[in-house]
Amino acid sequence: MSLSAVLTRIDADLQSSLDRLFDLLRIPSISADPAYKADCARAADWLAAELTGIGFDTTVRPTPGHPMVVGHYTKAGPDKPHVLFYGHYDVQPVDPLELWDTPPFEPSIATMPNGTKRILARGAEDDKGQMMTFVEACRAYVAVTGALPLNVTILAEGEEESGSPSLVPFLEANKAELSKQVAMICDTDMWNRDTPAIACMLRGLVGEEFTISCADRDLHSGMFGGAALNPIHVLTKILAGLHDETGKVTLPGFYDGVIDIPADLRANWDNLGFDGAAFLKDVGLTAPAGEVDRTVLEKIWARPTCEVNGIVGGYAGDGFKTVLPAKATAKVSFRLVGKQDPVKLRAALRKYVKDSLPPSASVTFHEHGGSPAVQLPFDSRELAAARAALTEEWGKPAAITGSGGSIPIAGYFRHILGMDALMIGFGLPDDRIHSPNEKYELQSFHKGMRSWARILTALAG
Ligand code: BES
Ligand code: ZN
Repeated sequence: MSLSAVLTRIDADLQSSLDRLFDLLRIPSISADPAYKADCARAADWLAAELTGIGFDTTVRPTPGHPMVVGHYTKAGPDKPHVLFYGHYDVQPVDPLELWDTPPFEPSIATMPNGTKRILARGAEDDKGQMMTFVEACRAYVAVTGALPLNVTILAEGEEESGSPSLVPFLEANKAELSKQVAMICDTDMWNRDTPAIACMLRGLVGEEFTISCADRDLHSGMFGGAALNPIHVLTKILAGLHDETGKVTLPGFYDGVIDIPADLRANWDNLGFDGAAFLKDVGLTAPAGEVDRTVLEKIWARPTCEVNGIVGGYAGDGFKTVLPAKATAKVSFRLVGKQDPVKLRAALRKYVKDSLPPSASVTFHEHGGSPAVQLPFDSRELAAARAALTEEWGKPAAITGSGGSIPIAGYFRHILGMDALMIGFGLPDDRIHSPNEKYELQSFHKGMRSWARILTALAG
């Protein structure tokens, strides 16, 4: 039986799969920071070379930002299905660097007191480790059987962590090449350590940065303070006005298109037995924030949010400086659900900020990407096949979940390429993605590869 031979091969090759993952993890492909542009290109080239080595016909395609990697494997023949796999080779910035226990781009394996092992590095999970589960499964398949059981196109992006600015034009320009039967994404979480998950809902995102300017220079806060407008005060008042006391977002029209989850889905989620208090306790919190009338699971999977992600202004160095700054900046994001419109919400935020400005304050805006929420069918043939394959590997049926994070391409697969996505990932909620000390469980990497080998077999029919 060839599948069992492929699984045996994955087990036997675990160390060399890890070595390759480590090579990729050593490349600091931080997409948000222009200083790492060459490293992003290097990561793309590295991946392209690996795919070529496995037998994919691979190209690295320039975009106005970081390149896309596209690899086609069509040797399974025209009577076999053709699927598209998406991953991203870029990672989040690493700051604050001093909070890392090991250097973010020097990957290592740590053994925990309970004997479990984890891979430590920026991108160990999101998304280099996750993406490589699929690539390595393909490698094992080809090595053992001589070919993949179906045709596969791999698309790897280098701008996912910065809102995917080049993605829509790229998909539009390459529709025919990229439209396949079904898409697969490995960039989401399991339900828990032993239970896999297929995510069927993902929130959308709007990112917006704005700078409030007042005086034409920084001022002495003794000489001018009291008489001169302070942009940090203007900014914080605007930010405070974004929520009311019940946790609702105040922007006019914000809740247009928000859909309450259907009763059957709610029942399904209730059955998952999620403990909201424990979830928060795990990260050191004793009480929930946000909308007072919603459960924790609902808040992170099915409700829209407005969060301030960064705020810059005045003197933040050591010691103290009595400055009245000329400018203050905030980075704000919305998570979207249902049919909320990213374009309208950005406009509503901009209008609110402009309307809130006192005389002698002005504002400039900078857009950081926007993508709609995604709702996928939970009854497709492919989902059933993948779910059965996951059950074989994990000994438990996959949970059908939502997910609070955003993957811009997930919505565009349907809107631009006319296909649905299967979102299957092996991350865990404690992987610290986007934070210091990101990790990926060795079990996630290993059983993730095995899972994809099974899923490819199942989808080949
Ligand atoms: N892999 C995450 C999305 C994710 C996180 C899914 C947790 C499921 C659980 C992805 O790489 C990510 O972080 N996306 C960004 C997108 C944004 C910058 C456009 C996000 O959600 O903040
Ligand atoms: Zn990711």
